[in-house]
Amino acid sequence: MTSNEILLAPADLVFPTDFLWGAATAAYQVEGAVAEDGRTASIWDTFSHTPGRVLQGDTGDVACDHYHRYREDVDLMSRLGLSSYRFSVSWSRVQPGGRGPLNPAGVDFYRRLVDELGERDILPWLTLYHWDLPQELEDAGGWPVRDTAYRFAEFAGLMHEALGDRVQHWTTLNEPWCSAFLGYGSGDHAPGRNEPAASVRAAHHLMLGHGLATQAIRAGTMPAQVGVTLNLYAVSPVSETEADADATRRVDGLANRIFLDPVLLGRYPDDVVEDLRPVTDMSHVRDGDLEVISSSLDMLGVNYYTRYVVCAPEIPDGVDDRWRSAPSAFPGSEHVQFKDRGLPVTAMNWEIDAPGLLEVLRRVSREYTDLPIYLTENGAAFDDVPDSEGRVEDAGRVDFFAQHLRACHQAITEGVPLRGYFAWSLLDNFEWGFGYTKRFGITYVDYPTQRRTPKASADWYAQVSRRNGLAAE
Ligand code: FCB
Repeated sequence: MTSNEILLAPADLVFPTDFLWGAATAAYQVEGAVAEDGRTASIWDTFSHTPGRVLQGDTGDVACDHYHRYREDVDLMSRLGLSSYRFSVSWSRVQPGGRGPLNPAGVDFYRRLVDELGERDILPWLTLYHWDLPQELEDAGGWPVRDTAYRFAEFAGLMHEALGDRVQHWTTLNEPWCSAFLGYGSGDHAPGRNEPAASVRAAHHLMLGHGLATQAIRAGTMPAQVGVTLNLYAVSPVSETEADADATRRVDGLANRIFLDPVLLGRYPDDVVEDLRPVTDMSHVRDGDLEVISSSLDMLGVNYYTRYVVCAPEIPDGVDDRWRSAPSAFPGSEHVQFKDRGLPVTAMNWEIDAPGLLEVLRRVSREYTDLPIYLTENGAAFDDVPDSEGRVEDAGRVDFFAQHLRACHQAITEGVPLRGYFAWSLLDNFEWGFGYTKRFGITYVDYPTQRRTPKASADWYAQVSRRNGLAAE
């Protein structure tokens, strides 16, 4: 027995024996080294360097310098007793420009990272696309253009050839909703376009890319577990009115079902296609696409952060230009409004709603699939203030994790095949449009010195992982 085990009280809520306890990051948010070893620009480099796009003008140029400090970071994971690390590959690092042969120096970084993980018995979980499209592919039209799906599949196949001997767990896309609707609809994310029809085409081509990539990986000789990660939301109406019920249906349609239905059931939901009619006739969907999109998977990744509570004024007949012309992540449903209910919020102003996670997990396993599910992201930003030693007592984050892990445990008790949990994030990092102003890490990063200090939540999470569970309350 190790000294750690002696100190640990037995858990009340015990998780299945082989449950994965992980932490996640994404390439652009942590790596830095944006111009090293042949890497070329991605849409996030361009976007973050465009004045006014990211708070404080922050960029991922240095981020957490994970590219150079990955050994120290794997060490940290090992000390925290993590059983898996979910990271993403910077496409323009391994295949500059998004076409042609792989760049050996770029691939080598991931090979070294994965080998380091292997030495510590930490399972590598690789995400192929976490939002950083090579800029050249955006210049050729980006995700609204069909060819991008084929480029992605080629990249996936090449990466699997390069790393399939060391990596078994492959996620094609992270949160295609954000890529499509924040990237091309509201413009809050790179590439920052406000084109409702293009955002719907992007969603389709992302899913097509996912299906083609799944097939490309399966065509390789090395075994692989393949999945996709969707950001799913519980959605509730503000009131019992018909208009609010309609708003709920619409937002559920555009946030959840527009991805769940094609990927897991092989069809678009009729009501969503109808809601989108003012924006697109969906003629970009070709025969056979949905079969590709619904290629069989080995697992489903779910990211969960909060619930949407929505309401809507009655929609007047016909298209209302007042709404339709405003940049929106909900094309065709621009009139829907998002409210809060006065629950405690994180620094993102997202309401903390663990019951929503249980709702999502139940729904996915009842209505969609019996595939193993992994919670590939869950976590919270708080305004962490380090003490004189750089230590952060983040009780709010511990409470957030505890509530959500209890919801996970409840789901498992009810028979949901949830097989793992990844805290977002291992490190404080570049939080997209919010730059470095939002800290999601279980580890505090002092950016000027790049010093990492595990927060109280990291120690707590390490205990959970070692006990394989937590106290019931
Ligand atoms: C998710 C993203 C992740 C991180 C968290 C807070 O939507 O996948 O990169 O930004 O939100």
